Amino acid sequence: MRCAPACYGEKMSGTAAIQSKNMQVPTKLPQHVSIIMDGNGRWAKERGKERIQGHFEGVNSVRAVMGAAVEWKIPYVSFFAFSEENWGRPEAEVNGLMELIGRAMVREMDTFRKYDVRFVVLGNRARLSDEINADIDRAMENTAGNKGLTMILFLSYSGQWDILQAAEKMAHDLMNNPGHRVRPEDLTRHLVTAGIPDPDLLIRTSGEKRISNYLLWQTAYTEFVFTETLWPDFREEAFLAALEEYASRDRRFGKIK
Ligand code: FPP
Repeated sequence: MRCAPACYGEKMSGTAAIQSKNMQVPTKLPQHVSIIMDGNGRWAKERGKERIQGHFEGVNSVRAVMGAAVEWKIPYVSFFAFSEENWGRPEAEVNGLMELIGRAMVREMDTFRKYDVRFVVLGNRARLSDEINADIDRAMENTAGNKGLTMILFLSYSGQWDILQAAEKMAHDLMNNPGHRVRPEDLTRHLVTAGIPDPDLLIRTSGEKRISNYLLWQTAYTEFVFTETLWPDFREEAFLAALEEYASRDRRFGKIK
């Protein structure tokens, strides 16, 4: 069953919002920004609403960040939408979230087309329903040739799951090539993120300061920005503030400059 349009939230365009505000972005921008969207439930609770209403409003923040990334020409933006651990939430919330995500993907197809966005879903898709997998396949196939922003949704994803599935494949390769000395690249190429640059910047909202089994391997040299802002309140200004914080960082990758 699909959610009625009224519960989905209002459509807005991040690009239009930015153009009207004439925001100035730093010259040193990340190639890949990844976001742990947190605080939807608390946002809803503060307003006496159901938790799912926080997730609905969170979709508008995804749109705002996506629009800003298009406008500011950031090539990759990714969102941690649902972790392997999130399957342990109450059934009603899991179903509501899946429905919301499936519906958002279908609904955003016009936006992806308009802004040349390539849409990618990564995670343990074997745990997703046939219905949402069909929506994902359609969205990914329809946008595969787009050359602008790559927008990645991590769904039913965990960093440990990703490393384990990559290690299994690497072990299989090694059986056919026993003398091979294993290097980091041997694992990297089997991660679901193969071909995608590691995040330069990881933002986590809502004041929590942990990685929560997200991109464990890929964040070896990522810059972290933590903000107290709850995800549904995270819009263009908050995104810009995180980019400014990133621009002020001195990245040395373990070397001396
Ligand atoms: C964390 O808040 C947020 C989530 C588990 C889900 C976020 C997913 C979306 C906004 C959907 C995006 C999808 C598309 C296709 C645009 P929480 O529930 O952990 O909040 P809390 O910590 O306050 O309880």
